[in-house]
Amino acid sequence: HLLILLASLAFHLVSCAKITTSLSRHEFPPGFVFGAGSSAYQIEGAAAEDGRTPSVWDTYAHEGKNMDKSTADVTADQYHKYKEDVKLMHDMGLDAYRFSISWSRLIPGGRGPINPKGLEYYNNLINELLKYGIDAHVTLNHFDLPQALEDEYEGTLSPQITEDFTAYADVCFREFGDRVKYWITFNEPNIETVLGRDLGQFPPARCSLRSLCAKGNSSTEPYISAHNILLSHAAAVQLYREKYQAAQKGQIGLTILAFWIENQTDSARDIAAAQRARDFHLGWFLDPLMYGDYPAVMRKNVGSRLPSFRPDESEQLKGSFDFIGLNHYTVMYMKDVTGSSDTYGSAYFADISATIAFPGLPRLFRENQLGIKGTLMPAAPWALQQLLEYVKLNYQNIAVMIHENGYGELNLNSTNDADEGIDDTERTDYLEAYIKSMLPSIRDGSNIKGYFVWSMLDSFELIFGYTSHFGLYHIDFSGQDRQRQPRQSAHWYTNFLKNSGRGG
Ligand code: NOJ
Repeated sequence: HLLILLASLAFHLVSCAKITTSLSRHEFPPGFVFGAGSSAYQIEGAAAEDGRTPSVWDTYAHEGKNMDKSTADVTADQYHKYKEDVKLMHDMGLDAYRFSISWSRLIPGGRGPINPKGLEYYNNLINELLKYGIDAHVTLNHFDLPQALEDEYEGTLSPQITEDFTAYADVCFREFGDRVKYWITFNEPNIETVLGRDLGQFPPARCSLRSLCAKGNSSTEPYISAHNILLSHAAAVQLYREKYQAAQKGQIGLTILAFWIENQTDSARDIAAAQRARDFHLGWFLDPLMYGDYPAVMRKNVGSRLPSFRPDESEQLKGSFDFIGLNHYTVMYMKDVTGSSDTYGSAYFADISATIAFPGLPRLFRENQLGIKGTLMPAAPWALQQLLEYVKLNYQNIAVMIHENGYGELNLNSTNDADEGIDDTERTDYLEAYIKSMLPSIRDGSNIKGYFVWSMLDSFELIFGYTSHFGLYHIDFSGQDRQRQPRQSAHWYTNFLKNSGRGG
């Protein structure tokens, strides 16, 4: 018994040592928001319960398209466990929780009647958060478009999406806007459209080249889909501003995936390729939102396959946000491949005339010390600083929130991460390094308003199912009750949020 006691004491001391931090909340500006995030399909479960209908992700997962052929039918079961989860958020000291609404839970047909059970669930969740003083940052569409709309008119490929999305947004603003003060229209449309309509990795699994997947398409689809998403966003923002914002006093924006993109070598060709890639990756959405049109290089390279905005649409888009969300995980290196076909058989990469290249192994290993295991995605906190500087300089220092940043373990041999466990030193180091890396940017005048860890809990990961985990909390997915267990990173974040000084 004594031995066990000593061992557990030693373990406790070791874990305590790992959770302390020299980083202080005092160093961040007053009002800076610290939170954690999730998305409906990935975390809720209760997929066929209380009137919810399938989203495109349900269909895709049920076709066995994920790495481990899993679905999110149950996943972390937040639908039934939201009270427990909100309590955990409170104990952790979160200022805010970023989650998304399942459109097909709230409006099962995609348009038309509201599902009272859906309404009740999101009211309950929001009220529970408010009870603990946690702000709700709500994404309206985090990839999970109602399957009904995909079936009816191919979802975002049709301009009809604008009317239906705006009507759905209207319901959300009306029903929840008295309590929700931060709205995000779409999550990561700049990668959703590429993965879903160019690389066949996301629903509806379309590819630009027939050789890549069964359902071939033309190389136009990602651009049309993105165009309709931009117009849907702008229409929803206009509605919010005209009908709700004055009374509800909330803010609205859109969130993009924001890799930092570097050139593979210092050759003029690679430097130009990296800039093209930044324009296709970031500028594709940021330019229309800021300046009312796509970057010139996109127009030049994509030509007539890139849709155009009418003057009134440009006007509606310009400035249609109060903040921009940046989901930032890593750096990518670009290599110029002009004149070659080394573009993954992808129309999008062919249009950029660039391919993702990794620098020499020593450099990769150095950066990968904090990296995402098994994915070749280096962790490089300096890259976040580069990104923030780029956004500050090129987009007039718009207000940004880091809506996602986190460490994903990838273990393709396991559907349950027992081997990863709770002792996640790498994730803890990753989060500390990234949070710290925002300080010089803030001092240099970047307009950063908040930071959200991805993710609050382990959940169903897109593409990887349950073989990849990002959670501050570990979940045993083989257990009926989906027990939550804090990882070391959860203790670290708690300590940072609660014990390192005033939170603004
Ligand atoms: C991007 C997405 O928004 C989120 O849904 C996903 O789980 C994480 N990043 C990690 O890949």
